[in-house]
Amino acid sequence: MRKVEQALIIRHREIVPRYFELEFIAPDIARDALPGQFVHIRVTKSLDPLLRRPFGIYNVEKKIGSVTVFYKVVGRGTKILSDFHTAETLDVLGPLGRPFSIPPNLRRAVLVGGGVGIAPLVYLARVLCERKVEVMVLLGGSTSGFLVGRDILKRMGIDHMVSTDDGSEGLRGRVTELLEKIIDRKRFDYIYSCGPEPMMARVTEIAQEYGIDGELSLEEHMACGIGACLGCAKEVVRDGRRSFAKVCTDGPVFKIGEVVFRA
Ligand SMILES: Cc1cc2nc3c(=O)[nH]c(=O)nc-3n(C[C@H](O)[C@H](O)[C@H](O)COP(=O)(O)OP(=O)(O)OC[C@H]3O[C@@H](n4cnc5c(N)ncnc54)[C@H](O)[C@@H]3O)c2cc1C
Ligand code: FES
Repeated sequence: MRKVEQALIIRHREIVPRYFELEFIAPDIARDALPGQFVHIRVTKSLDPLLRRPFGIYNVEKKIGSVTVFYKVVGRGTKILSDFHTAETLDVLGPLGRPFSIPPNLRRAVLVGGGVGIAPLVYLARVLCERKVEVMVLLGGSTSGFLVGRDILKRMGIDHMVSTDDGSEGLRGRVTELLEKIIDRKRFDYIYSCGPEPMMARVTEIAQEYGIDGELSLEEHMACGIGACLGCAKEVVRDGRRSFAKVCTDGPVFKIGEVVFRA
């Protein structure tokens, strides 16, 4: 059940230039939030910009009723958001969207994330571990300082491997190359992924090549966030037929193989 909450900011810090971690108290959202869902944040107290901005749920602390998001400043809305301080309130709508599913007999999962796309996978990794699923997270970033979520994964003792574009840490290259290197040995039952579309297109090819099912979370441009405007339509294939799905309500999580990626 989605709720609008006036959420008190309890932590807001710039981890590396332009990348922020934002934790706020929103007990109703925290109670219901599932991995893969997102919150829609009004980034100003005025009406400009009018549209809320969507962010995947990075962590939830149910005991204190807090939700954390991890975001990158890319434009006007996220720049305005970055100027909010601890003890101020934010207008937050959520939790929204279809969450990741967890198949009943899942034993070993690999989570593949690139850039800020790692954010929703961190909360998923935590929930999978709580359910005794063996988890390996593959993190891709441009350089060593920009590996989103690594500290929280370390703190939670969750297995992870990294790749960087510049080779400053882990494998030099793409995170999908890391997946290809280990997929044969590890015998994963399921793949979860979130990040840039070319990365998820490649994850789809690898999953299909190895006959492994999984899910992807899209970060499409969005407007209303509640299925009313078609501002987030994405082409999908279901039962062999092409159609358009709304990322905000039919997603953001889709089965691997459903999403049509354009080269
Ligand atoms: C379900 C969902 C979950 C998301 N989760 C996160 C998250 O956890 N962390 C995070 O940092 N971002 C996330 N995003 C993306 C985030 O919502 C956008 O970066 C944000 O809305 C940009 O707002 P802005 O006003 O700063 O940028 P704008 O001024 O609107 O745009 C600035 C630039 O960024 C581009 N841009 C804007 N939105 C997107 C997008 N969705 N995808 C690609 N390019 C975009 C624009 O084309 C433009 O070039 C998510 C998006 C969705 C739909
Ligand atoms: S953003 Fe309006 S229908 Fe999805």
